[in-house]
Amino acid sequence: MSKTRILTGITTSGTPHLGNYVGAIRPALASAQATEVENFYFLADFHALVKCGDPARVQRSTLEIAATWLACGLDVEKNWFYRQSDIPEIPELTWFLTCVAGKGLLNRAHAYKAAVDRNRAEGEDDDAGIGAGLFMYPVLMAADILIFNAHKVPVGRDQVQHIEMARDFGQRFNHLYGEHFTLPEAVIDENVATLPGLDGRKMSKSYDNTIPLFAPRGELKKLIAGILTDSRAPGEAKDSEGSAVFQLYQAFASKEETAAFAQAFADGIGWGDAKQRLFERIDAEVAPMREKYAALMAKPGEIEAILRDGAARLRAVHATPALLRLREAVGLRDLSRIVADAKPARKEAGATVPMFKQYRDADGKFYFKLVQGERVLLQSVGFASPRDAGQRIAAIKSGEIGDGASDFMLGENVTDEDVNAALAAFVAAQLEGEAGAP
Ligand code: TRP
Repeated sequence: MSKTRILTGITTSGTPHLGNYVGAIRPALASAQATEVENFYFLADFHALVKCGDPARVQRSTLEIAATWLACGLDVEKNWFYRQSDIPEIPELTWFLTCVAGKGLLNRAHAYKAAVDRNRAEGEDDDAGIGAGLFMYPVLMAADILIFNAHKVPVGRDQVQHIEMARDFGQRFNHLYGEHFTLPEAVIDENVATLPGLDGRKMSKSYDNTIPLFAPRGELKKLIAGILTDSRAPGEAKDSEGSAVFQLYQAFASKEETAAFAQAFADGIGWGDAKQRLFERIDAEVAPMREKYAALMAKPGEIEAILRDGAARLRAVHATPALLRLREAVGLRDLSRIVADAKPARKEAGATVPMFKQYRDADGKFYFKLVQGERVLLQSVGFASPRDAGQRIAAIKSGEIGDGASDFMLGENVTDEDVNAALAAFVAAQLEGEAGAP
């Protein structure tokens, strides 16, 4: 049985904060414990360029986020860990997807629409000051996901629309070029809290209300002391609901500890004491990782080597073969092969163009057939992966039918000549740019 592939990306434009840790890093690493999963953790540094025009900051953030993953216990032997910009196949796929993405759909992306709305409110031109990078952001993100055929993408609610767009682009591509992409699903963990920041709003670098995950002890304490509270005096009962201090505590504490803290609120704990307890609780979880983090940050060369190694292996296993198949699918092909193999029979008017169909059957294996209208010309045996099936199709298309081929059967009343003619017609149709037309 093939493993469920789970993919998590973080944009490298800031310093990791408690919200990133609780909302993304900690749950992602917890899921790495499961055995039937293949995890992809990556640094979305191409995405960072959309918002951040500060090279030093992109570099610094990439280092910090990489060190954070490692300090938090990411095992780079058992999981994929890489930097987006080390995989040139991702921008290549971005272009393929750009060509199937509906511009109208991109017009409706929340981040882009919000920027347009701001312009309108200010009486500016709709697209004033908006880079095409912001507009294309969802396509790049779709490439991140589709290139590895990820099944699940854990995200915050603000990213769900992007996953839906990735499904849309993947589906359009599949429709045009055959079943190449798994359509991903967004996973929103209801148990993972959205952390409040210093001012009580969601902790986010855009609100400038974050607590850095690895702030030194003294700074952590000072920041926590600055969390917004109401003005109730010690001895007065306090609402735990809606309190940033309480919610932060809850994100780091067990059920029992949280219940005890709620009781302390009801009993009128002073804000100073509550914040002290919050500080101790967070520090207890973070301190051991903070030490590892400091050690890692002192050796940036080692982190660079880990990332390069991860990307090189990942390219060899997944990205490079995937793009070979996709290039083939869209028609970026070896010309010598097509010329040598194609003896395109003239297509008769009204004849149905034969096509390959790939599918997965109930037995979990991957099959293909060559069909022409209703007629099944070839039927394959089951392959272990869509890639194996796809490679076999590519070989057949390029003329490597194989002697006494044992991995497919001819359909009823079909002769070798029928198949050869169909393949020639297939190639001819592709040359005419009609491939995949429904
Ligand atoms: N857009 C995501 C964010 O800002 C980061 C990201 C980029 C991502 N590519 C991804 C997340 C692919 C998941 C999958 O949070």
